Amino acid sequence: MSKKLIFSTFLLAYGVLTWMYWPANKNEMVDVNADFIGSYDITGAAGELMRDGCYDCHSYETKYPAYAYFPPVSGWIGGHVAHGRGKLNFSAWSDYSLEEQSEFIKKSIQEIENGDMPPSNYRTMHSEAQWSEQDSAIVLAFLREFAQISQQD
Ligand code: HEC
Repeated sequence: MSKKLIFSTFLLAYGVLTWMYWPANKNEMVDVNADFIGSYDITGAAGELMRDGCYDCHSYETKYPAYAYFPPVSGWIGGHVAHGRGKLNFSAWSDYSLEEQSEFIKKSIQEIENGDMPPSNYRTMHSEAQWSEQDSAIVLAFLREFAQISQQD
């Protein structure tokens, strides 16, 4: 094979991969009424913090950085997002039963308390997800209150 042909084949293959793993295609339309923050009209710091710290992986509102569009990175990031969303999707909150919702809130509190969520490698890459102790306290206070209110219903 000539060098030119090898190069064109490579470009073509890369183009197909880029198209296949183009992550923006995987963000579905967001229904405000189905969304956790949207449906409860959560305003203020707790909602903002959760958008910055949780929504990239647990919602349809993933904000992909420029490097996320190109293989092989697009494949890795796409896989992480699919994994996180598959476990818990705040954009499809209203699809969960009340038991599931309260279970997710409890688990979220635990994950944040243990420092497991937002994941540490993600925090390194995303300055907006580097919650201070005060930020974590705000989200935890909000989630605990939320858990209490929803238990009374
Ligand atoms: C970088 C992506 C990412 C971010 C950001 C992230 N998560 Fe996760 N989360 C995951 C993945 C992946 C899993 C699945 C882990 C597993 O299966 O071991 C998960 C699992 C969970 C679970 C357990 C769900 C279950 O039923 O097992 C909860 C609860 C959770 N995350 C809450 C949060 C909260 C709250 C935030 C924000 C503070 C957050 N996550 C931020 C990727 C992320």
